Amino acid sequence: MTRATRLADTTEPPTRQRGRTVHGEPANAGHRVLAPDDAEVEAYLEQALHAPPPARPADEPAPSKPDTVVVLDLGSQYAQLIARRVRELNVYSELLPHDTPWAEIERRNPKAIILSGGPASVYDEGAPGVDPAIWSGRVPVLGICYGLQLMARDLGGEVVASARREYGPAAVTLTGEDGLFKGLDREQPVWMSHGDSILRPPEGFHPTAQTDSTAYAGLAAPDRQLYGIQFHPEVVHTRAGREILRNFVLGIAAARATWTPASLIDTAVAEIRERVGDGKVICALSGGVDSAVAATLVHRAIGDQLTCIYVDHGLMRKRESELLRATFEQNLGMRLLMVDARDRFLRRLAGIEDPEEKRRIIGDEFIRVFEEEAAHLGRIDFLTQGTLYPDVIESKTAETKAAAKIKTHHNVGGLPADLPFQLIEPLRHLFKDEVRAVGGELGLPEAMILRQPFPGPGLAIRIIGEVTADRLETLREADWIVIDEIKAAGLYRALWQSFAILTPVRSVGVMGDGRTYANVVAVRAVTSDDGMTADWARLPYDLLARISSRIVNEVPGVNRVVYDISSKPPATIEWE
Ligand code: XMP
Repeated sequence: MTRATRLADTTEPPTRQRGRTVHGEPANAGHRVLAPDDAEVEAYLEQALHAPPPARPADEPAPSKPDTVVVLDLGSQYAQLIARRVRELNVYSELLPHDTPWAEIERRNPKAIILSGGPASVYDEGAPGVDPAIWSGRVPVLGICYGLQLMARDLGGEVVASARREYGPAAVTLTGEDGLFKGLDREQPVWMSHGDSILRPPEGFHPTAQTDSTAYAGLAAPDRQLYGIQFHPEVVHTRAGREILRNFVLGIAAARATWTPASLIDTAVAEIRERVGDGKVICALSGGVDSAVAATLVHRAIGDQLTCIYVDHGLMRKRESELLRATFEQNLGMRLLMVDARDRFLRRLAGIEDPEEKRRIIGDEFIRVFEEEAAHLGRIDFLTQGTLYPDVIESKTAETKAAAKIKTHHNVGGLPADLPFQLIEPLRHLFKDEVRAVGGELGLPEAMILRQPFPGPGLAIRIIGEVTADRLETLREADWIVIDEIKAAGLYRALWQSFAILTPVRSVGVMGDGRTYANVVAVRAVTSDDGMTADWARLPYDLLARISSRIVNEVPGVNRVVYDISSKPPATIEWE
């Protein structure tokens, strides 16, 4: 039996499994997260549940070999940010659980190790620790906040709960002639967040920085390559934070700054070629950034051995499918299967008003269409997916139990072992901004790589109540005007999301000499860092006025526009 027929065989998996994630949660329960490609990812996880046994390598492919800085996650909400800051210096950085054994760390041949902060006290029961072998002096170590206290405590110093908890902006005086602070003014504004303080440094360490409340805001033992700072260099409030990290990574650790989008593409292309050989690969394009960049990278490596499938469910915004076809088929010359499934989705959505039911139906229909199309393609060896680094580390750090967890991804947790094809995840080492940079370098248009997040179920969850062809058309036109005006005002990139919602409310209006009784459209624009919390954007009144008057004048069936002034929480970003 070929893999393709197996796929075809799975079009009717047991109902027990349908609508469930690999964790057994209801599918879509975890969809209310930030990634625009979520519906897509979920689809494969579900599909994978019904697939025959493994043909996967035991280990994921070795990452490329740029100089590496390992960040050990001791539970700080800023741990990812440290890794990103290092990468902004063009040095590859990997975030690992705090208790990663030394052998594992050493295998990565790191040029340096950074210990993140964390919410615990070193004296708490079960407080996160590190493999003591990292203190050996073989690799330079920088401890930040809790990381510094751990270093001090492990090496024989004394850490105490301080009388005064320091949280927020503070001023430090740099006192040490220290490579870490090279080129910096003595007085520095920094960001502090700690309860414990160092009372006595370990032997061989000297103080390098102080504040009003602690004499040991910085410690160093340069002959052992050990450094620590009480404040957070990764947050922007520490003005010289970037320089401090640069001094450590490029100066003290002498890492080479070779991690650039171009080098990354070269390495990924070589790896994909080697892995795929003459195999066949499929990729589902969702219209989101991640799948677009992943597909383009794979295409650069293996050309026509890749087929992309785009399921047009008819719930996309105006001109989105056109842009996709123009970019992938015409400009990039890819084999693209565009499946017009608009009627199928509409038929299944007819009469459905419940938001979660809409999500379930869309996810389910997506899998059906995808499976049918894939089955027509013959043998398939690999599936490309736009999994990003935050998905990978979040599922890892969940196991470390170090983090006072702020955010949970339900739907991209560990992949099942029984995939019908091997996975190619060329972005699994990248953060979102790096994915965008790679996309730009690969020649993808800005409209595709700099777009705001868009939910997998698309406009269906922005039409309150039943989704029909007419209502989709109305929303598409209104939404187009919102985006058009926001772009014209130069605000598109400053906003996390901006869009229109079609409400089922009808209200009375007057147009010309006539009375109207038509729909209310709501406009939503929010600022946010990650979609987990959000605030309504203070858009200029004249911009809102232009949006409103254009919608009412240009979109038939709408006579009133309102602006949503709710923040998240307690509201959500989407209305459904
Ligand atoms: P809420 O509305 O929960 O949305 O504040 C947070 C972020 O998640 C997106 N979102 C979704 N994305 N499938 C997705 O792929 C969904 O069902 C879904 N629902 C919400 C939303 O656009 C925002 O960015």
